Amino acid sequence: MLIAASILSADFARLEAHAAEAVAAGADWLHIDVMDGHFVPNLTFGPLAVRALQSLKAETGVTLDTHLMISEPERYLEEFAQAGSDIITVHVEACKDVGAALHKIRTLGCRPGLTVNPDTSLNQLEPWLADIDVAMIMSVYPGFAGQSYLPESNGRIRELKAMLNRASSKAILEVDGGIKPFNVHEPRQSGADVVVAGSAIFGGSIPDRIAQLRGIQPL
Ligand code: DX5
Ligand code: ZN
Repeated sequence: MLIAASILSADFARLEAHAAEAVAAGADWLHIDVMDGHFVPNLTFGPLAVRALQSLKAETGVTLDTHLMISEPERYLEEFAQAGSDIITVHVEACKDVGAALHKIRTLGCRPGLTVNPDTSLNQLEPWLADIDVAMIMSVYPGFAGQSYLPESNGRIRELKAMLNRASSKAILEVDGGIKPFNVHEPRQSGADVVVAGSAIFGGSIPDRIAQLRGIQPL
């Protein structure tokens, strides 16, 4: 299982150094949570945050996983691709035309991801399973770091895994929100290929937290 460190909980006064600590400690991906104050009730950052991680990406090869919590993400795909995103994940609820958005992400040279809010039916992902490289389950309502993992996510992860298998899709299953060392076994056992963790990783000793998330160090 891969670990994606969400820079939403990093120290922005030293973003690159803090993100570099996570990568050095074994984080496989850096997860960049973009919020627009419209699709979600919070504002974060735009393509400049992705661009600020380019040297680190060049030095380490870390994957930049951009999660767009913005309305009509189609408007900004070019900017996030040019800024150096490897994966761009959009919300099915936020797109005007999901198929066109996914196609554009691929045309721009990035890997398309698709996600749904906790109360959106997974059936909404079904038409796009062959077109995506990442299928993401939101295990919190998007908008803020540090929320609690929604237990119903476990069933949704299993259901999405089964849908991906039925569709012979090779998409990676990512789970985002509320994942801590004490509950990481839940998404892992349910079938997550990648877990996102923000407050868990940046809220303490980064090497310890990553080792705990991997289950190689006791809590
Ligand atoms: C929620 C974001 C998540 C979140 C993860 O809106 O998409 O990526 O920042 O943070 P933690 O791990 O603190 O729940
Ligand atoms: Zn996220």
